[in-house]
Amino acid sequence: MKIAVIGTGYVGLPTGVGFAELGNEVVCIDKIPEKINDLNNGKITLYEQGLEELFLKNKENGRLKFTTNLADGVKGAEVIIIAVGTPTHPVTKEADMKYIHAAAGELSEHIKSYVVVAVKSTVPVGTGDDVEEIISQGKPNSDFDVVSLPEFLREGFAVEDFFNPDRIVIGADSEKAKQKLKELYAPFEGKTNFLFVSRKSSETIKYASNSFLAIKVHYINEMSNFCEKSGANIEEVAMGMGLDTRIGPKFLQPGPGYGGSCFPKDTLAMSCMARKYGVHLNLVETAIRHNELRKADMALRIVDAVGDIKHPRVAVLGLTFKGGTDDVRESPAMDIVEELLRYGLSLKVYDPKGMENAKPMLHDRVYYAKDVEDACAGTDLCVILTEWEEFKKLNFPVLKHNMRSPRIIDMRNLLNSAEINLAGLEYKCLGRLC
Ligand code: UDX
Repeated sequence: MKIAVIGTGYVGLPTGVGFAELGNEVVCIDKIPEKINDLNNGKITLYEQGLEELFLKNKENGRLKFTTNLADGVKGAEVIIIAVGTPTHPVTKEADMKYIHAAAGELSEHIKSYVVVAVKSTVPVGTGDDVEEIISQGKPNSDFDVVSLPEFLREGFAVEDFFNPDRIVIGADSEKAKQKLKELYAPFEGKTNFLFVSRKSSETIKYASNSFLAIKVHYINEMSNFCEKSGANIEEVAMGMGLDTRIGPKFLQPGPGYGGSCFPKDTLAMSCMARKYGVHLNLVETAIRHNELRKADMALRIVDAVGDIKHPRVAVLGLTFKGGTDDVRESPAMDIVEELLRYGLSLKVYDPKGMENAKPMLHDRVYYAKDVEDACAGTDLCVILTEWEEFKKLNFPVLKHNMRSPRIIDMRNLLNSAEINLAGLEYKCLGRLC
């Protein structure tokens, strides 16, 4: 099948590459010429494990093409997937729909035969109706259907999640559209759950899922605080909770707060959307508020730890919002770094993939280390802020020798306290006596 994907970001690009790998003819469209030039020159524009090889393979075999020209891109497409950003509006805090509406308006002029327009971006309930309206106005009597096709990819696992989704949710009110999408997703038949629901239910499922996951993370972070005071062990508590199949073991890992381009944006949008209907989602609003407070609390713990030192130097391991990605958007680590700089600490930072994306925000206010040892050398404290695999195996004797005072605060509970204490370093973590 020939499909077009509008938007080549963290959702659009893995989606386009994935469908090309499944044998479809895919054209990915983006307004940013530099991005499209890079992609046409074989340079991947974002980091996702396993994406580059599939991108190069399908670009080479001609199934995957890139263009800034929407008219060319959608020509002959049976399905047009809209995967553009829906950032938080700086004032209203709602999902900003300008890119969605622009894409709908532009593509409406180029509909020549029946096409399914699938909105994969995370959009407020009712957006499908708006897109339908915009296309109809743009080109009356054109033959199309608009469906909701929410994305559940996790950053860092986009390729894995594309080929092994928990579920394919399709919000379609037309039989014809359902058939077309069943054809597109035929390779997943019998391998995952297909859920056909109304367009509005489908649009709600994404926000409701992400808000719930954010609340779950917020919950375990609060439980972690309780364990620190009560002497319980949050990892043991999380294990005990997770064995209850109604709770499940995932998203029970305490940390410095949730971040990324989804949870912060989607919880805000969910709360704003609900308030428009006069509904207060108190749990979501509490999670939003307390997630911000948690980052400030984490920064304060770091400042307190070095408060007695003149001109303290701190090594920060991890800038991305989670391990496995190069994305620093809404990263708790970045917010904590900003807070530490406000307190006047001098920082040496290191992240396996996020350094280049962090530089435009941190400029020359920090020292950019080339690796963990370089970051820790001569510092009074090492803080782990992102759950990178690489940070699970630190060379403690080297750190002990090279740090001015060998201390580690592990805000992702990656390390084993016994091993660290044996090596002669001081160790603090979250939610348990370390
Ligand atoms: C999320 C949803 O998981 C995904 O289904 C949706 O499509 C997009 O939004 P993502 O934003 O990539 O994916 O990150 P996710 O893995 O969900 O983590 C979000 C944040 O929560 C990260 O900052 C992560 O570090 C944090 N987190 C996650 C925890 O602090 N503890 C956990 O146990 C899990």
